[in-house]
Amino acid sequence: SWAGGEPGNGQMAPYACQRRTPLLHSNQPLTEALETLAEEAGFSGSEGRSLAFTRAASVLKALPGQLSALEELGPLPGIGEHSRRVIQDVLEDGVSVEVERVKLSERYRTMKLFTKIFGVGVRTASRWYQEGIRTLVDLQERNTKLTRQQQAGLQHYEDLNTPVERGEAESIGRMVQEAVQRFLPGASVTLAGGFRRGKPRGHDVDLLLTHPEAGREAGLLSRVVSWLDSQGLILYQHSQENSFALHEGPEPPGGRDVLDRFERCFSIFRLEVQGRPGAARGWKAVRVDLVVAPVGQFPFALLGWTGSRHFERELRRFAGHERKMVLNSHTLYDTRLNLFLPAASEEEIFQHLGLEYVPPTQRNA
Ligand code: CTP
Ligand code: MN
Ligand code: MN
Ligand code: MN
Repeated sequence: SWAGGEPGNGQMAPYACQRRTPLLHSNQPLTEALETLAEEAGFSGSEGRSLAFTRAASVLKALPGQLSALEELGPLPGIGEHSRRVIQDVLEDGVSVEVERVKLSERYRTMKLFTKIFGVGVRTASRWYQEGIRTLVDLQERNTKLTRQQQAGLQHYEDLNTPVERGEAESIGRMVQEAVQRFLPGASVTLAGGFRRGKPRGHDVDLLLTHPEAGREAGLLSRVVSWLDSQGLILYQHSQENSFALHEGPEPPGGRDVLDRFERCFSIFRLEVQGRPGAARGWKAVRVDLVVAPVGQFPFALLGWTGSRHFERELRRFAGHERKMVLNSHTLYDTRLNLFLPAASEEEIFQHLGLEYVPPTQRNA
């Protein structure tokens, strides 16, 4: 049984945003098994099932110690029958036969291969699978129609599926900071995403740009990207203008996982790297997301872009169900008072929600 607290005392809060979830936890084999099933359910379009496995995994990540018997779970929230069965199998046999079967299945393996291409989601991967395509070579030989983004993804497949190290993320942050200073002195660049949660490596670099004077940030991104591009530092980019208008009012509650509307750029950087053993070239392709937020929305953007995805989903669910508020990466809206609740920091957003503050390193839900 785990240190601190009675097992199965039901003290674990039901929403992930009410819990502290560190990066490292003691139940890795269990969460890995459950997350494989979550991924597989997502590949089959079963979002509800996928969420159920993700929720169960997330609860285990917040346990203070290693689970040794199913009974210790007691009435923990959000762990359904199927998840309990998987947990029991892994505890008793070291593996779950169901999970091992999934991992070996042709469909799962192929879907995984395809969705690891930048620009390829479950729908596209699924269509290709249905058409009998199984490998990246198949994809090229059959002259499958690809978007410009997917072509770039395929071209840099290996690099983009090699983890980005923290040092690499920081050096990209400095490159962007330097370009930003050139066009808008005083503007800031903040590393968000997994790195802000303390991850030592990640799949991309998420950078948030803002300026302390509202409105000054307009137009900054296109200048920064053009300049970096002219320096040969950008292999691919796809920008999107800001489409957020406050006067439109809040998004309807329950519209899940709505993309935010900030000015942004999905890109692939060409990062100089020294002494990569065995590498023929001195650079590496790295996925970078650049997002620009006006200072008034910055705390919401920072909270929204720090993740984890599950933590964000739970925050929004908590806001809606428990507080009748609509939270997104731009604003927090109270539907009972009919007003926007401004915030100058992430702490203030948690206060508005009546939640204990959870620091970024404890948001690895
Ligand atoms: N995000 C978002 N809109 C997008 C993409 C991402 O709001 N179009 C947010 C997500 O809510 C997520 C955060 O940005 O919490 C970071 O997303 P992502 O880079 O996909 O994941 P990380 O947690 O950074 O993990 P990784 O290390 O794999 O990059
Ligand atoms: Mn079942
Ligand atoms: Mn990221
Ligand atoms: Mn990202």
